[in-house]
Amino acid sequence: MYRSHTCGELRIADAGKEVTLAGWAARIRTMGGMAFIDIRDRYGITQLAFNEGYDAKVLQQAAEIGREFVIQAKGKVAERESKNPQMPTGDVEVIVTELKVLNPAKTPPFLIENETDGGDDLRMQYRYLDLRRDAVRANMVLRHNMAQEVRRYLSDSGFLEVETPVLIKSTPEGARDFVVPSRLNAGQFYALPQSPQTFKQLLMVSGFDRYFQIVKCFRDEDLRADRQPEFTQIDCEMSFVEREDILQVFEGLTRHLFSKVKGVDLTSVPRMTYADAMQYYGCDKPDLRFDMRFVDLGNVAKGKGFGVFDNSEAVLAICAPGAAAYTRKQIDELTDFVKRPQIGATGLIYCRVEQDGTLKSSVDKFFDQPALLAWAEACNAKPGDLILVLAGALNKVRKQLNELRLEMGTRLGLRDPFNYKPLWVVDFPLLEQDEESGRWHAMHHPFTSPLPEDVHLMQTDPGAVRANAYDLVINGVEVGGGSIRIHDRSLQERMFALLGFTPEQARAQFGFLMDAFEYGAPPHGGIAFGFDRLCSLFGGSETIRDYIAFPKNNAGRDVMIDAPSALDQEQLDELSVSVKKS
Ligand code: AMO
Repeated sequence: MYRSHTCGELRIADAGKEVTLAGWAARIRTMGGMAFIDIRDRYGITQLAFNEGYDAKVLQQAAEIGREFVIQAKGKVAERESKNPQMPTGDVEVIVTELKVLNPAKTPPFLIENETDGGDDLRMQYRYLDLRRDAVRANMVLRHNMAQEVRRYLSDSGFLEVETPVLIKSTPEGARDFVVPSRLNAGQFYALPQSPQTFKQLLMVSGFDRYFQIVKCFRDEDLRADRQPEFTQIDCEMSFVEREDILQVFEGLTRHLFSKVKGVDLTSVPRMTYADAMQYYGCDKPDLRFDMRFVDLGNVAKGKGFGVFDNSEAVLAICAPGAAAYTRKQIDELTDFVKRPQIGATGLIYCRVEQDGTLKSSVDKFFDQPALLAWAEACNAKPGDLILVLAGALNKVRKQLNELRLEMGTRLGLRDPFNYKPLWVVDFPLLEQDEESGRWHAMHHPFTSPLPEDVHLMQTDPGAVRANAYDLVINGVEVGGGSIRIHDRSLQERMFALLGFTPEQARAQFGFLMDAFEYGAPPHGGIAFGFDRLCSLFGGSETIRDYIAFPKNNAGRDVMIDAPSALDQEQLDELSVSVKKS
């Protein structure tokens, strides 16, 4: 028997028991004739004590233990003289009578403690050591608990978990595919799924009615804090449903997770159209933890002789509560912020609402008090508030002001990661147009159904057609997205034609789906949640890497196993792949 208890288990009630513990030597302290070793495993840390007057052999052994040695200790549980209230086992220690090294260890390249001295790269290279740290392991525990609760809720709601293949043909989710050469079919390639989209629709044709899968997806796209090349979705599909049914079921899942995993009672999830999200927040995933809606100042600010406004398509403002006291330097910082190339504004105009109600703007030359009062009224600004204004082309100003709004939210401390504000964004446009080529692309994917009342616009005004699509947004993060699907072959064909596929191309890529639609496809729809994003949101972090056991870095590399890597010529020949030498 390697152990009688785990390292997180012993309490004062165990005092006097003979126990055996096994784990890693986390901390070693020797003082004169005494020694203490903190022994750690997944469950916690217990203090091992080697007291004065001890068997010299055991003391000698203790002195030879290095950090992260795997050890086994036998001894008696005793009440500690100086208790440690920070540790669940802090009332006791084990007075060791026998100590065994199960495996020695090299000194780790960084401290395996919550406050570690290891930088990101080093910790990624030795991820298996990083995972020994409490904070990182706690993220994996959270992820596990989430997955269990997802399965419980969906299974209890009649969903069947079905696995779909990983070696497939391209799925059109809008990113590039990762491809795998086929040895048995020389010159041909599988694609790894960007999502199981087509398979889950086929399962609806098969009559499975309610499907789910916690599934790996692969997308070759530029990486960011909330994007990994391989990530996990909670992927779902339902038959004989309308949008409302889906929103109800997945609002239920979201509420269940918050309640079971975080003990948070979520209020009902409000809804907002895409058009309103763009108008009031300048983006399709507004962070509703704070207000600061956009205000259109066009009517009150144009025509007063200020060229920047008069020559702009849009003059939009936000009102930052309590920020009138911002110093010149703070406002300069904001101006620099919006002028950064990534944001691209040409300047920032402000108006302070002083405590006595007077208005002080950066454009006082053009706007007298009554004119500025009209701004303040439009913004519903109160004494102490700061009005920030950007002008220019509508779409650009919306993007820029969105960034500024988020920045102000952060600066004013309005974005508490543990204050959760979910939102359904609905009625996305069906299509978006590529500025250069003029080609239409599906905003979600080509199987998304248009809203029935907009179908007639598909030929005449494709840009105005709204999709029966929805996103779940929490605190400005797109947690999930889905849609009601097209289940009618002729509508699907029209959609492919709009997207510029010839009938032959559509047949070659999606013939199997169109054929299936002729064998009795039920009305259906679904959604997929980004599981890693959901976990990081629950954990209060913006980086999904922290919630993935073995993530890739920002260049898409796994630096621990050193992948991707080159293949030798023999393997390339077998796969009929030739590699361009650089
Ligand atoms: P979509 O492409 O919106 O929809 O993806 C669903 C959710 O997956 C998450 N996500 C990602 N997470 C981490 N890294 C990535 N690279 C990444 N890409 C996407 C997001 C996103 O909301 N088949 C459809 C769903 C459907 O229509 O049912 C789909 O995949 O949280």
